[in-house]
Amino acid sequence: MSPRKLSSTGGISLGAIALFAVVTLGALVLSASFLSPKSDSVAQPMRFSHKAHFEDATCETCHLYVMELASAGTPSLEDCVDCHDNTLSENAEDQLEEKKLEKYAEEDTEIPWIHLPRLTADIYFSHRMHAGLGEKPLECKNCHGDIGKSETLPQERQIAFTMSFCVDCHEKRQASNDCLMCHR
Ligand code: HEC
Ligand code: HEC
Ligand code: HEC
Ligand code: HEC
Ligand code: HEC
Repeated sequence: MSPRKLSSTGGISLGAIALFAVVTLGALVLSASFLSPKSDSVAQPMRFSHKAHFEDATCETCHLYVMELASAGTPSLEDCVDCHDNTLSENAEDQLEEKKLEKYAEEDTEIPWIHLPRLTADIYFSHRMHAGLGEKPLECKNCHGDIGKSETLPQERQIAFTMSFCVDCHEKRQASNDCLMCHR
C-alpha cells in the first residue's frame, strides 16, 4: 500500500465518519423528541407498575379470563380495591398514586385505562388456546416480553404481533398454519 493511497482512504473514512456523526446526531435528536414525551405520557389515568405487583399477585389475579376466554380481561376497580382497602406502599409518592383509587371508588367510576392497539377484528386470536388449555401452555412472556417487570404501563407492545410472529411459532411448535384459522 502506498502512503498516498492510505491518506486518500483516510480522507474518505473521515468524511464517512463525519457523515455518520451528522446522521447519528440527527437520528438521536429525532428519537429524543419521540422518546421524551414517552415515559408516562400516553396520559394513563394513574401510574401502574406491574413490577410492584409481581410478588403479590399472579397475572391471572388481574387478567381474570386469560386461561378461559379469547380476551385476557382488564381488572376492574373492585379487583384493585380488594387489596387496596388501605395504603399498601411505603414510599410517599406511591401512596399519592394509591389515593387515586379512593377517588375512583368514591365516584364509583372505573379507571379509564388507555389500551394498546389491538389486532384488527378480522384476525382470530384466543388466549385460551395459548396460555390456557393447550397441551404445552405458553408463558405470557413468549408474547408480552417482560411486562411483569415494568414500572409503568408500556407505550407500545414489547413484541410486534406481525403475521410472521404468529406463523413462525406455529411452525416451530407444529401448530396449524391454515390461513382461515387466523383470518376470518
Ligand atoms: C395487580 C393487577 C395486575 C397484575 C397482577 C398484572 N397486571 Fe397486567 N395490567 C394491569 C393493568 C391495570 C393494566 C392496564 C389496563 C389494561 O390495559 O388492561 C395491565 C395491562 C397489561 C397488558 C397490556 C394490555 C393492553 O393491551 O393495554 C399486558 C400485556 C399485561 N398487563 C400482561 C400482564 C402479565 C403477563 C402479567 C403477569 C406477569 C400481568 N399483566 C399482571 C394489571 C395487572
Ligand atoms: C393482590 C393484591 C393487589 C391487587 C389486586 C392490586 N394491588 Fe396495587 N399494590 C399491592 C401492593 C402489596 C402494593 C405495594 C407494593 C410495594 O410497595 O412493594 C401495591 C402498590 C400499588 C401502587 C403504588 C406502587 C406503584 O409503583 O405504582 C399503585 C398505584 C397500585 N398498587 C395500584 C393498583 C391498581 C390500579 C390495581 C388494580 C388494577 C391494584 N393496585 C391491584 C397489592 C395489590
Ligand atoms: C401466543 C401469544 C400470547 C401469549 C402466550 C399470551 N398472550 Fe396476551 N395477547 C396476545 C395477543 C396477540 C394479544 C392481542 C389480542 C388482540 O389484539 O385481540 C394479547 C393481548 C393481551 C392483553 C390485552 C387484551 C386482552 O386480551 O385483554 C392482556 C391483558 C394479555 N394479553 C395478558 C396476557 C397474560 C396475562 C398472559 C399469560 C397468562 C398472556 N397474555 C399470554 C398474545 C399472547
Ligand atoms: C409462542 C408460540 C405461538 C405464538 C407466538 C402464536 N401461537 Fe397460535 N398457537 C400456538 C400453539 C402451540 C397452538 C396449538 C394449541 C393447541 O392446539 O394445543 C396455537 C393455536 C392457535 C390457533 C388455533 C387454536 C385456537 O385458539 O382456536 C389460532 C387461531 C392461533 N394459534 C392464532 C394465533 C395468532 C393470530 C397469533 C399471533 C397474533 C399466534 N397464534 C401466535 C403457538 C403460538
Ligand atoms: C397463525 C396466524 C396466521 C396464519 C396461519 C396466517 N396469517 Fe396472515 N396474518 C396474521 C396476522 C396476525 C396478520 C396481521 C399482521 C399485522 O397486522 O401486521 C396477518 C396479515 C396478513 C396479510 C396482510 C394483510 C393484512 O391484513 O394486514 C395477508 C395478505 C395475509 N396475512 C395472508 C395470509 C395467508 C395467504 C395465509 C395462509 C397461507 C395466512 N395469512 C396465514 C396471522 C396469520
